[in-house]
Amino acid sequence: MIRLEGERPEDMWEIEALLDTAFGVGRLALASYNLRHDVSPIRELAFVARDESGQLVGAIRFWPILIGISRQPALLLGPVAVHPTRQGEGIGSMLIRCSLAKAADLGWKLVLLVGDASYYSRFGFSRTSHTIFPQPVDPARVLYLALVPEAASMLDGEVIRHPGFSSDSTDGD
Ligand SMILES: CC(C)(COP(=O)(O)OP(=O)(O)OC[C@H]1O[C@@H](n2cnc3c(N)ncnc32)[C@H](O)[C@@H]1OP(=O)(O)O)[C@@H](O)C(=O)NCCC(=O)NCCS
Repeated sequence: MIRLEGERPEDMWEIEALLDTAFGVGRLALASYNLRHDVSPIRELAFVARDESGQLVGAIRFWPILIGISRQPALLLGPVAVHPTRQGEGIGSMLIRCSLAKAADLGWKLVLLVGDASYYSRFGFSRTSHTIFPQPVDPARVLYLALVPEAASMLDGEVIRHPGFSSDSTDGD
């Protein structure tokens, strides 16, 4: 049985090893990492999945970002990863659904990510052509999910880092 837990500081090295395994060690060169540089993930939205023996088999994090000239706060989903030996068992879906529900509870309105539409469409993500993501990125992989109906109107413009974010603030509102 898989259980989801909030990420703890002592999980860090297991998560780093999982991300290296899932994405390769070149992962820090991905464009989306520019948005994470010197910014902390949202503590309440960082989860790990552990198996029966306590082994870490999956993890998800979200980062705060800002969109457009009005600097609308939003979430960047990712990385999300499941250990290759446990993929296809629904662990990634559990992590994504659970954290998106929590994000909505916390008052976040909009989630962006860079990923495969064929996977993320099952959670409601769609392509956006209005959002300018840090390069290089394949525009067809920039996806969004509006957690509230009016959030789709926040998509216009450039995505930038959210350097001043504190998990204790109410920026998600
Ligand atoms: C993507 C990932 C998190 C999914 O986790 P998971 O636990 O294997 O996913 P689930 O078991 O919930 O879902 C499995 C389904 O997703 C599909 N799927 C997995 N990755 C996919 C992808 N990149 N594109 C399309 N479909 C994908 C599987 O084919 C399977 O389809 P099915 O339900 O029709 O059988 C995991 O495969 C992973 O860690 N991959 C490597 C890292 C990565 O690519 N992370 C995402 C960044 S975009």
